[in-house]
Amino acid sequence: MAKVTKAVIPAAGLGTRVLPATKSIPKEMLPIVDRPAIHYIVEEAVRSGITDILIITSRNKVNVEDYFDRAPELEERLLAAGKREVYDEIVSIAHMANIQYVRQKETKGLGHAVLCAKSFVGNEPFAVLYGDDVIISPPDKPATGELCAAYEKYGKGVVGIKEVSPQAILKYSSLSVTPLEDRIFAVHDMIEKPAPDQVLSLYSILGRCVLPPEIFDILEQTPPGAGGEIQLTDAMKTLTRCGGMTGVDYTGTRYDMGNKLGVMQAAVEVALNHPEIGNDFREYLKNIAKTL
Ligand code: UTP
Repeated sequence: MAKVTKAVIPAAGLGTRVLPATKSIPKEMLPIVDRPAIHYIVEEAVRSGITDILIITSRNKVNVEDYFDRAPELEERLLAAGKREVYDEIVSIAHMANIQYVRQKETKGLGHAVLCAKSFVGNEPFAVLYGDDVIISPPDKPATGELCAAYEKYGKGVVGIKEVSPQAILKYSSLSVTPLEDRIFAVHDMIEKPAPDQVLSLYSILGRCVLPPEIFDILEQTPPGAGGEIQLTDAMKTLTRCGGMTGVDYTGTRYDMGNKLGVMQAAVEVALNHPEIGNDFREYLKNIAKTL
């Protein structure tokens, strides 16, 4: 089975649930302590063996491109000030992977955003890392890497899945699954934003998938679904009904940078483990907790 080396990061959404910040800052650029969300996502892709990344952007998202570019004036200033470590870190961001960009000209949904990657992907399997889902994992278990391993083993498209609450499932997708091995499932059917009587299980697709190139033909035939948008889940449902998909309950913890609580949860948990501020932040939190 072909090795997965390409990834697509859709980051063209309007981010209306995190307004007003997202009026001028893409939600993918919201910082988790000292790095933007998309930094963690690219890092996960690289750890998973991905070498080529296409980020789907839109108007007002140029600072995503600036972040992964060189910054000559800043770099010179850091060198002149003898801040070699920071300089090395800043330069390394521009070399994390071969990153390209394409604009989704109209916000027509996640499925439409993925379709914008058709010529970049060609005839290969590829990973999709949703630009607002940050997954923090042990270094040797990046979520995308776990999905790629399942793709290579079972030869079918793979979705990253997690069990969610009965309330949350109505806002996400719901899957019909049967277990194959520890944390790995056969997926038989799926539905995006189910009505309460349509829920198939509490397993939902959260943040990651690995798809065969056949998904593009399917996406081209997929009509707008929930919310009037072309839904990636609807295309994956067709793929599932044509030959099944595999579900991987990945090891890491997922943070939804598309909603305000998720932004705060990511910040608190990353800060607690941060080498520079972790200890001080822990003390601060303990003191605050006493007053709650
Ligand atoms: P969401 O549906 O969570 O993003 O899409 P959104 O539309 O920005 O959210 P709200 O409801 O307005 O707050 C999941 C991922 O797909 C991307 C988003 O950027 C996000 O990373 N996306 C969504 C696109 O790239 N294009 C789209 O047309 C829609």
